[in-house]
Amino acid sequence: MKIHFITGNENKVEEAKKKIGPLGFEVIQKNLNPPEIQSDNLEDVALFSAKWVSERFSEPFFLEDAGFFVDSLNGFPGVYSAYVFETLGYMGILRLMDGIEERSARFAAVIAYHDGKQIKSFGGEVSGHITQEPRGSNGFGYDPIFIPEGESRTFAEMSAEEKGRVSHRGRALEKMQEWLKEKDTTDR
Ligand code: IMP
Repeated sequence: MKIHFITGNENKVEEAKKKIGPLGFEVIQKNLNPPEIQSDNLEDVALFSAKWVSERFSEPFFLEDAGFFVDSLNGFPGVYSAYVFETLGYMGILRLMDGIEERSARFAAVIAYHDGKQIKSFGGEVSGHITQEPRGSNGFGYDPIFIPEGESRTFAEMSAEEKGRVSHRGRALEKMQEWLKEKDTTDR
């Protein structure tokens, strides 16, 4: 099944291809740059963008909105993750965390999928902690400073495939894929 991923982020596309490609989904990147509303709820952001795209594009697609939440910073940068990354980068987060021992953080992602008629959303999360220094050169965004629970490597030290097994995006993709498979069986 062909499915478009509306995003300008090639790393996200690579991760999605590695995750659901082997399960029979051909992921095609489409960069439509939908508007994003300012909200403290990732699902609201994803659903709004998906509705905007659905009014302009009639083939099955999904898009995704993600955020990085640091516990000792009361969830910051959260829904401002993209802006904070552009302005301060991950080094800015490390500086804010300087001297702070409690380093737990999580990534969350919400996928909004549109099949031509309805929009359905799927969430995924991964908990972990923030390193003292950046490590690794794979991936994107905050990957070099985040170690998922049960691992010793940062996301940036993992391959896209390894990251996708435990990541927020991987988990949301898994849920979407399971739902699509089930829907396919009941539609037949
Ligand atoms: P977006 O709006 O979904 O692209 O995500 C907001 C920001 O969070 C992006 O600018 C990235 O810097 C960061 N981000 C999202 N997903 C990831 C990830 O899987 N790894 C590292 N950073 C991420």
